[in-house]
Amino acid sequence: MADLLGSMRKTHHCNELSAADIGNEVVLMGWVHRRRDHGGVIFIDLRDREGLTQIVFNPDLEKTVHGKAHDLRSEYVIGIRGQVEGRPGDMVNPKLKTGEIEILVTELKILNSAETPVFQIEDEIDVSEAVRLKHRHLDLRRPKIQKNIITRHKAGMAVRNYLNANGFLDIETPVLTKSTPEGARDYLVPSRVNPGQFYALPQSPQLFKQLLMVSGFEKYYQIVRCFRDEDLRADRQPEFTQIDMEMSFVGEEDVMSISEGMIKAVFKEVLDKDLKVPFPRLTYAESIDRFGLDKPDMRFALELKNVSDIVEGAGFKVFADVVKKGGMVKALNAKGCIGFSRKEIDDLTGFVAVYRARGLAWIKVKENEWQSPIAKFFTDDEKAALAEKIGMEPGDLIFFVADQPRVVNEALGHLRNHLGKKLNLIDENEYNFLWVTHFPLLEYDENEKRFQALHHPFTSPYEEDIPLLATDPLKVRSAAYDIVLNGYEIGGGSIRIHQWETQEKVFKTLGMDKETYESKFGFLLSALRDGAPPHGGIAFGFDRLAMLLCGEPSIRDVIAFPKTQKAACQLTNAPSETSKEQLEELSLRVRKIKV
Ligand code: AMO
Ligand code: AMP
Repeated sequence: MADLLGSMRKTHHCNELSAADIGNEVVLMGWVHRRRDHGGVIFIDLRDREGLTQIVFNPDLEKTVHGKAHDLRSEYVIGIRGQVEGRPGDMVNPKLKTGEIEILVTELKILNSAETPVFQIEDEIDVSEAVRLKHRHLDLRRPKIQKNIITRHKAGMAVRNYLNANGFLDIETPVLTKSTPEGARDYLVPSRVNPGQFYALPQSPQLFKQLLMVSGFEKYYQIVRCFRDEDLRADRQPEFTQIDMEMSFVGEEDVMSISEGMIKAVFKEVLDKDLKVPFPRLTYAESIDRFGLDKPDMRFALELKNVSDIVEGAGFKVFADVVKKGGMVKALNAKGCIGFSRKEIDDLTGFVAVYRARGLAWIKVKENEWQSPIAKFFTDDEKAALAEKIGMEPGDLIFFVADQPRVVNEALGHLRNHLGKKLNLIDENEYNFLWVTHFPLLEYDENEKRFQALHHPFTSPYEEDIPLLATDPLKVRSAAYDIVLNGYEIGGGSIRIHQWETQEKVFKTLGMDKETYESKFGFLLSALRDGAPPHGGIAFGFDRLAMLLCGEPSIRDVIAFPKTQKAACQLTNAPSETSKEQLEELSLRVRKIKV
């Protein structure tokens, strides 16, 4: 078959040529980005993934070629041969890498036509995300998204290079597997050859990587897809990618230090930034106490202050009662915000209500008095104590939430982040890393009335806390660590339980009987009995890391084919109904239940 390209083969990409190439004949291929006609002369910006080059069709020089150029429209795919020329002084475009030159076209091949694109292939477009995702192949042509995908690739390469150089082996693990609990619901896949039975897609390769340690591979990594059926948001997708690692014969410090080395290598390679390691550390307890969240944004200082002891005996019943019932009252000082309007305060009350806070009390601190609906409930001594604890100064606006600790911390922790943005306290160019350590092993699930693992059930308790499993499980601390960047949890890991007796104890504390844990995790227990080395690891959210490297607000901007908030793919229309035949083959019948 005749080759459409003929003898034409690309010699350069569209972001490559400069004044040094003037006089050379070149061949470029790409898409018609923009076209301008200037008194017979046609200028086209030719685009490929690397950038733009201006190409010129001059009727006085190449009449037939110029004639063909009249047919060119946006997004046509073309190949051109031509001469690199210097642009006249006033035509030089300093914003473009190829802005000094243009190509005088002597040969044009139209490789394909294109319909008028649904939206312009430009960075700044006013098109809904739904439309962009439906036409993702066009959306992905936009220079910014191409840059993001390329940046993601570079980050992946830096990760691989670093881990390969440090003795890690890339080993694949199954996708059709058994449930690996990481706190979300499973995606299930029916088995045709085993009617009525299902595989679960892995929420992470957690158990397999532990088995690889038992098998003696010692250092494992994988850039791997994980699947979690959970409520989605800007930094959560139903399928996402982890940089997953595991190492034998290590303690917490070893995993943290190899992780720091990896992140440092990635930032150097991708952004040419020299990060300072080791990253700072904060215990979970301190993080919650000072910032309300276990992933605090440390780019700004605003801290929560616990004022429970001051308000416990005070006349404001709402506060006093909460403290008496085991709750707490915390304050947040919005410095200098005395000018907030009633509406702004009402909006913030609505904001904290999302986190189940039942109110947001406030005080405006004036020179000699407080303006506040609750000022009248406090004695002068109590006022003085509050002022000191909260660091009140004239001009400040103080917010309070009183409730159970979880509600108070979540509400004020998120309010803190919100104010950080609203008050411009954040330096957007900063990369602020933090390790959060000493997590509790368990938390109590009020709905299910049982303990749950804060990370996953394979996380090791501190040796000295193991006896507490029987007496005071919530006091048991775990050898787990999360890594936080600018308020995002970008990774988390732990030292694992490598002794089967301890693993059984933890399963039991989680409310599983022997039959349950043997049927779910018998293979793990059996491996732990067969000479399991001490081991630990970590997994990074690769999408989140890429999002922060690209300075994007959503992981959807760094995933080639992401899903919507409703876990749907706009492009392919997945998920979708399936045929009767296929269901029959799988021995399934669909009964729609109204929800
Ligand atoms: P964890 O559940 O903390 O740990 O997951 C590790 C990291 O993956 C990212 N992440 C997500 N990113 C996008 N969308 C999601 N739905 C999503 N869920 C999690 C986060 C998170 O920090 N097996 C353990 C790791 C270990 O112990 O080694 C695990 O999966 O950035
Ligand atoms: P009330 O006495 O209910 O009108 O509340 C007086 C002020 O206290 C209002 O500003 C409420 O928003 C606030 N408030 C009520 N309940 C709480 C609570 N649990 N935590 C913080 N503030 C509250």
